[in-house]
Amino acid sequence: MAEIAVIGCGHVGLVAVGCFAALGHQVTAVDVDTRRIELLRRGVPAIYEPGLEDLLRDGVESGRIEARDRYPAELDADFVFLAVGTPSSTGGASDLRAVRDAISALAPTLRPNAVIVNKSTVPIGTGNMIAETALSAGDTSVSVVSNPEFLQEGTAVDNFMNPDRVIVGSDDPDAAERVGQLYEDFGAPILRTDIRTAEMIKYASNAFLATKVSFINEMASICDVVNADVTEVARGMGLDDRIGSKFLRAGIGWGGSCFPKDVASLEHTASMSGAHPQLLRDVVEINKEQRRRIVHKIQTALGGVEGRRIVVLGAAFKPNTDDIRESPALEVSDLLRLAGAEVLVFDPHVSAEKIRVEFPRLTVTPDLIDAIEDADALVLATEWPAFIDLPLAELALGMRTALFIDGRNAMDARAVREAGFTYRCIGRPGLEGGPLEPVTHIDRSNGVGSDHALASNR
Ligand code: UGA
Repeated sequence: MAEIAVIGCGHVGLVAVGCFAALGHQVTAVDVDTRRIELLRRGVPAIYEPGLEDLLRDGVESGRIEARDRYPAELDADFVFLAVGTPSSTGGASDLRAVRDAISALAPTLRPNAVIVNKSTVPIGTGNMIAETALSAGDTSVSVVSNPEFLQEGTAVDNFMNPDRVIVGSDDPDAAERVGQLYEDFGAPILRTDIRTAEMIKYASNAFLATKVSFINEMASICDVVNADVTEVARGMGLDDRIGSKFLRAGIGWGGSCFPKDVASLEHTASMSGAHPQLLRDVVEINKEQRRRIVHKIQTALGGVEGRRIVVLGAAFKPNTDDIRESPALEVSDLLRLAGAEVLVFDPHVSAEKIRVEFPRLTVTPDLIDAIEDADALVLATEWPAFIDLPLAELALGMRTALFIDGRNAMDARAVREAGFTYRCIGRPGLEGGPLEPVTHIDRSNGVGSDHALASNR
């Protein structure tokens, strides 16, 4: 068993801490954020990630996890995993300050032959910079390995323990071999490359997945106008092994802490190096457009959103996480607010405080039934499983205008319509009960009008 240090206890770092400890390794977790470290000492993760709390608690109780809020004079570790943040900066460039600070601080503390393993997503060439920084800090025996992570929030523990592949990039074959051995028991292919290629594999993977989602979203907008069903299109495409069925769910666009930052960073690196990354630019543009299209769809269905009460279901950028970074749900909510709607956001797992930090003008509601009273539209923006089983008929009754916008194609369209809603979705016009008729007038005093496209309850 190895002695492992993990620098940075965010999403990637904490999962590595919990999983390496569960595999029997001795893990020292270091983070300058004292709150995260205090929580970790009690076995509590500072983030919501299914299955992680059990691993951390076991690791702390068995003494396999030690948490520190500063670097010790000597870091007793064979492997030092870097998992610090690399946020977006000007023009999409990655801010590498945390990487530089960590290397400068830890280089003098390393034992001879320790391997620095970088898991942070960093621009191509950063691994070489890490080696040079460690060298200039006096560590002449340092080896650097790039070992990118492919963890999805919500399933990160399972992804760590059951990887599709492990990428080990290094110019030092011995260091690469030692890092590869840490993952051997998983039985996944281990691909050895040079550092830059490993760094590029990470970006290319995320950029490709984002491209797949933007592609199907573009197909959805075409389906809307040619009267085809995008979910069947995705199914028909996905049955082809060369295409694959994953990441072909049309919706209101992709978000999160990774795709937006990584696509922007790759675009920045590429264009600053003289390449012309047109496809990446279009992928981002389509994603931006997708969020506006849903707003437009709501505007069309309601004949304008000014003064309308709209309840948005979901704030997280996807289900099973409380992460709201670059969340399409919140951006759509804010666009509706800016267009004059009264927007109420409901999420079963994201705290109101967290949302208010990013979007102080959005109203967050803890009570869906209260919020729905007199509302004009219900917008499913994040497909939390709990939303699929909502008491639809009860909700529709309380609304002024029973419009359901399914931004994730997650609902049973017939059940929604049978509950009394007018149903709108993404790229499935056949399920919408006929072509969209713009609502020219809604009588807000009694809400009833036989010429209205939308069912109204009062
Ligand atoms: C993503 C990658 O999937 C991971 O492999 C990678 O390790 C991680 O980024 C990272 O770089 O750390 P994650 O950010 O957790 O993982 O989110 P995804 O599950 O990939 O979803 C990203 C976005 O795409 C979400 O907003 C999701 O709703 C959207 N999406 C995904 C769709 O709209 N349709 C789909 O079919 C799939």
